[in-house]
Amino acid sequence: MTTLIISSSLSTESKSFLLCNKAKNELSKKNINCEIIDAREIQLTACHYNQSSSMNFLTNKISKADNYIIGMGVHNYSINDSLKIILDNCFRNVEGKFFGILCAAGGEKSYLSTMHLTQICMNEWRMIQLPRIIYATGKDFEKNQIIS
Ligand SMILES: Cc1cc2nc3c(=O)[nH]c(=O)nc-3n(C[C@H](O)[C@H](O)[C@H](O)COP(=O)(O)O)c2cc1C
Repeated sequence: MTTLIISSSLSTESKSFLLCNKAKNELSKKNINCEIIDAREIQLTACHYNQSSSMNFLTNKISKADNYIIGMGVHNYSINDSLKIILDNCFRNVEGKFFGILCAAGGEKSYLSTMHLTQICMNEWRMIQLPRIIYATGKDFEKNQIIS
């Protein structure tokens, strides 16, 4: 059983990446087989462009995993653009699999933005979302560290 943690932000100071990394460490402590993928290391290509080899690599990783933790930053009350590219182009063989969400936002009022990810995954692939989303705001971080 493999859990794939997908950190989708391209920000060099990504806060959702910090959440993903923390989840990886916590799961590893419990001897859960998990792996983290950092979108900053993938050459993302939008739909209708030739897919880069790293996109194919990501597609294979996603296809082989049993369940997912998806890290996202909120952009304009929705998912960030790089996550949309990953969903549109790399999500295959994910039907019915479980997923959880780790979300970083600027403020507290955008918590419903994760619903767009829920809608895509549940409607398109009948994926099953695990309850309890981790939702963090700028206040939860200091100097590139999680402080709460
Ligand atoms: C283009 C853009 C749009 C954003 N829109 C929102 C928003 O609607 N609501 C919000 O709370 N934060 C918003 N933010 C702030 C980000 O959610 C915040 O910086 C978060 O840390 C991003 O995740 P990341 O650090 O992992 O990239 C926006 C940031 C950017 C760059």
